[in-house]
Amino acid sequence: MNKVKFAAVALAAAMALTSATAMADRDAGDAEKGKKVFNKCKACHDIRAGKKKIGPSMFGIAGRPAGTVEGFRYSEAMKSSGVTWNDDNLDKYLEKPIKFVPKTKMSFPGLNKKNDRADVIAYLKTLK
Ligand code: HEC
Repeated sequence: MNKVKFAAVALAAAMALTSATAMADRDAGDAEKGKKVFNKCKACHDIRAGKKKIGPSMFGIAGRPAGTVEGFRYSEAMKSSGVTWNDDNLDKYLEKPIKFVPKTKMSFPGLNKKNDRADVIAYLKTLK
């Protein structure tokens, strides 16, 4: 292999490696940034246990089955969704609530940016 070609291959490999690392970081989400994204949710969701607003408290939401916060009147759709709030399901719901749980009464259009969703999910996980 000539020198120029080798340099190009090495550079491409290095770039692939850094972008893979960067992506892994983004997938994990940043709870600090997620706290700011959560400003969009605050009107309807409290983070303290047992405090409901228009929506149920987000305390301990990660890992919990959907529609199970005591004392909150969910839609039938949410109660019977059979969903558990793992990262993947939270991501899908927050991207477009009415698509993932048709007839949900959460009137929020969704978060378009994957990074915003990953960040807010990281933040939700700290609420426990
Ligand atoms: C306009 C008010 C409103 C906004 C804004 C809103 N939500 Fe909701 N959310 C609701 C309501 C109402 C429900 C209950 C839905 C149902 O019963 O179908 C809900 C349900 C949820 C659930 C499922 C709760 C459970 O116990 O199963 C999650 C998770 C959730 N919201 C997260 C969010 C996040 C994160 C944001 C911000 C990105 C957000 N919501 C923005 C009103 C809202």
